[in-house]
Amino acid sequence: MMDRNLALEAVRVTEAAAIASARSVGLGNETLSDKAAVEAMRAALNRMEMRAKIVIGEGERDEAPMLFIGEMVGTGHGPEIEIAVDPLEGTTICANGLPNSISVVAMAESGGFLHAPDVYMKKIAVGPECVGVIDISQSWLWNLERVAKAKGRKISELTVVTLNRPRHEELIKELRSKGCRIRLIQDGDVSAAIATADPNSGIDLLFGTGGAPEGVISAAALRCLGGDFQGQLIFQKDAEKERAKKMGIKDFNRLYKLEDLARGDVMFAATGVTTGTFLPGVNFFKNGCETHSIVMRSATGTIRHMTAKHRFDIKPYIWGNIYDNVDG
Ligand code: FBP
Repeated sequence: MMDRNLALEAVRVTEAAAIASARSVGLGNETLSDKAAVEAMRAALNRMEMRAKIVIGEGERDEAPMLFIGEMVGTGHGPEIEIAVDPLEGTTICANGLPNSISVVAMAESGGFLHAPDVYMKKIAVGPECVGVIDISQSWLWNLERVAKAKGRKISELTVVTLNRPRHEELIKELRSKGCRIRLIQDGDVSAAIATADPNSGIDLLFGTGGAPEGVISAAALRCLGGDFQGQLIFQKDAEKERAKKMGIKDFNRLYKLEDLARGDVMFAATGVTTGTFLPGVNFFKNGCETHSIVMRSATGTIRHMTAKHRFDIKPYIWGNIYDNVDG
């Protein structure tokens, strides 16, 4: 089992990335937002006592400033860990100052995560009441009916969250034909997947296709929250299949259950960048800021909400140096 204190360390990593990217909120510069999050996250990961490999990251080696797949992080001493990162989940929403961008990291023992390439994934996520009732090989409506039954509600009393994309036109039409309520989101299907496990979120299911890396990270979170998640990789080009093959994927049509995506002892941490339904965003005050994070472990199911105050007069390095050319 992984040292439980790693989870608390992980929160420093998402706090650092959230604070750094929060300075770019609304500047309309996605590259800057991403770079700020990635560099702060890398520096924080490298301060952790571990030998860790990024297995879900932001691209391949030559695509700087990504935290690339295969990159080793940590001090080089300590336990061997696999890491899945999304330094800034919702880059566009951060750059536009819209709600729900977060910074995320998940950790597992070696072999814990599906090494998913950056392709799309068809996804279903549900909360604890619906564990075992979903099946991604069946239709959306089949799953909807099963969830309604498990929750003891009518379909019209359920809310499905899905990304607002043309590829979901059919799905949305089908849901509407059954009177199912829908929340369309512009970006950020990790926090949407997590919302299914929060009875106060008003969200019952996540349906639709989003990023595969985000799918693995969502699965890690739902392992900790006691929910359920299933996914199937969607390939659009042969080159994507080639990349997947190199990452060890043999069956391109495979249906992945929760533990196929995130198995064993899993930890998850996230910090809000812009205020959303999942987490409040970074709030600045004179010489400092406040962050709101969640940190959880699958081994114990403990979910911690952490509010932290950070002092820039004592820790000026928290910004990194990427804002040198930006006013203010
Ligand atoms: P990024 O922050 O990496 O841009 O991801 C945002 C996101 O909305 C994810 O939450 C989602 O899984 C994916 O993009 C959907 O991809 P697309 O925008 O191509 O539909």
